[in-house]
Amino acid sequence: MTKVLVTYDMFREGFTELESKYDVTFPNHRDFTYEEVYEMIPEYDVLCSMFDFKVNKELIDHAPKLRLVANYAVGYNNIDVAYCLSKGVTVTNTPGPVTAPTANVALGLMIDAARRLTECDRKLRTLGHDMKVGVLENLGVNISGKTLGIIGMGRIGTALAKRAVACDMKVLYHNRHQLPVEQEAAFDVHYALKEELLAQSDFVSVNAPYTPETYHFIGEAELKQMKKTAILINTSRGALVDEYALVRALQEGTIHAAGLDVFEFGDYPLPELLTLDNVVMTPHIGTQTLEVRILMARTVCDNVMGFLEGDRSITRVLHP
Ligand code: GLV
Repeated sequence: MTKVLVTYDMFREGFTELESKYDVTFPNHRDFTYEEVYEMIPEYDVLCSMFDFKVNKELIDHAPKLRLVANYAVGYNNIDVAYCLSKGVTVTNTPGPVTAPTANVALGLMIDAARRLTECDRKLRTLGHDMKVGVLENLGVNISGKTLGIIGMGRIGTALAKRAVACDMKVLYHNRHQLPVEQEAAFDVHYALKEELLAQSDFVSVNAPYTPETYHFIGEAELKQMKKTAILINTSRGALVDEYALVRALQEGTIHAAGLDVFEFGDYPLPELLTLDNVVMTPHIGTQTLEVRILMARTVCDNVMGFLEGDRSITRVLHP
């Protein structure tokens, strides 16, 4: 019987159909470690991996039966996709269910950083009646009427653009490929070179995948090209932004503020960020709702069953 190994602890709702048909192994109330997966993988045909679980050459070479890596994420920078493909191992991801929730968190971080929602909440709780309030205190900035620059105009970038247009923002975007003019018109977005986008945007949102080309896509030089009043948002992967350079930019007023759902060095921000009021942070919760977790699990299972049975479409990763 085909054997499926799931590396992560997950609600079983999404997995019912898969479990009824195949021999599926789950960890027990925790994720499997890399070492545990390495020990088990020779017996398995399919690996269901989480976005923070490394599927590297060493693991693939230890998996003679492996035919599919079904990632629980739209991002697949945790997987050596080129090596998988060279070994005839298919890779899939879960773009569908993550698009709207991630765009929502990006918009939420924009509004929060601009209007200082979390900062005010924190001050109210810690200072109580000592917090300064009044019509000239805690001033924020508008998002309506401003320009949003989106770096990476894939599904999430496009979904964010729609939301921004609904908030009366002008949207610039930068992407590897310019969209066809009909799509630009339909989404009401305008292509810009990276430097133009950085110089003209009041908000810059990073929505590109993490690849060797996008590592530190926003570094010290780029932060200096941004407006002093600009707000940087990152909901993609932490390493697209040089976090040390960002700390300095926020401390020195090179840019105004930031909203971050992802961090360069794992799950937690650099300690300096915790001391700054002009940054709002969440711990990679872009897709973290009960509904989305289950929908992502269903998509993983559809990918596995579609791959094994050819009875439904799958979302294949075609290149690294
Ligand atoms: C989440 O980070 C994802 O890549 O889906």
